[in-house]
Amino acid sequence: MKLNLLLKNELIENFNNVFSNTNHSVYFSPGRVNLIGEHIDYNGGFVFPAAISYGTYGVASLNETQNINIYSKGFSKMVDTFSLNDLSKKDSDGYLSYIKGIFYTLKMKGIHIVKGLDIYIESTLPTSSGLSSSASLEMLIIYILNDIYKLNLTTLDMVNISKETENKYVGVHSGIMDQFAVGFGKYNHAILLDTQTLFYEHIPFDLKNYRLLIINSNKPRQLAASKYNERFGECQETLQILKKHFNIEHLCELEVSDLPQIKALLSDTLYRRIKHCITEQTRVIQSKKALIKGDILSFGNAMNLSHESLRYDYEVSVDELDTIVDVARNSGAIGARMTGAGFGGCAIAIVEDKFANHVKEKILTTYQQKFSMDASIYEVEISSGTHKL
Ligand code: GLA
Repeated sequence: MKLNLLLKNELIENFNNVFSNTNHSVYFSPGRVNLIGEHIDYNGGFVFPAAISYGTYGVASLNETQNINIYSKGFSKMVDTFSLNDLSKKDSDGYLSYIKGIFYTLKMKGIHIVKGLDIYIESTLPTSSGLSSSASLEMLIIYILNDIYKLNLTTLDMVNISKETENKYVGVHSGIMDQFAVGFGKYNHAILLDTQTLFYEHIPFDLKNYRLLIINSNKPRQLAASKYNERFGECQETLQILKKHFNIEHLCELEVSDLPQIKALLSDTLYRRIKHCITEQTRVIQSKKALIKGDILSFGNAMNLSHESLRYDYEVSVDELDTIVDVARNSGAIGARMTGAGFGGCAIAIVEDKFANHVKEKILTTYQQKFSMDASIYEVEISSGTHKL
């Protein structure tokens, strides 16, 4: 199924099979793909993501208790329960921490939820794939709570609560890109977001006679959180050093012309990290212009340069992603890069329609031969943000 959509009636039926509760509402929260602008949302840079038609569905209903009961088809196959009177994080929480964390963050803001809920969750997003299954889940939950408890939160409030949950409760120092893309998605549009000011524009996503392939390496991302936090720490360290020489609050305020001066101030590793950030920022702007002009070749070229920078300077790619990117390019893609945090997960490629089948086949066969495991390829539609069905 190209769009990977689930039917509302089936979701309600599934909910009814688990919970005997009739007064329910159904919601959808998309995943996201980042077109370009990687690892710069926590450095005040521009990013260019889009919400996708793969995502997380939820059916929710008030119950008469003070418990939150969750049945997640993908995660546990049994009803997990936590009490609204104990929102502390447990080692065994797993996916539940994203849900419990939202209640916790609300509580920290003085919003006390006292009535329990039954929630059925079903996702069409592969987990740990760099397509933001966690932001999709966080935004689903806060959207449900906002709707059912009439909290009067704006989309930006919900984005901020989800990000805070990820940063403080889950413990990953991620930027705002994922939750923002999931919340502010627009059908057939990418989002150009300035992460410093949160100014954003919806840019029509029209690839003409080209298409976007998402290729999942299916490589588990065990080290992703710790490596991610390591990169975050390196950027913080770099910022502290450079603040003594430049009047800046964020790394992405610096320009390519500052690089020679910067080089003399940093170790080789930190220099390569910031070189990625500054050059990636310029590639995002170029990509936006190229997409508006319908210049898909230039957009593809920026994607290629982005991958090289992530591979050699920011060092967040892995052999599996490099192989997918190389094979995609060598078999006809005009642009390919890893997407998301890296260390596994997905790559994306822009391919002319007539070469799409050939490129897909080459990727799948080469990947299987080299790694003795299968890659998966998705074609998605660009979706609107989290909403009620
Ligand atoms: C993860 C984070 C985002 C962003 C990307 C890398 O998806 O959640 O905030 O930093 O990695 O661009």
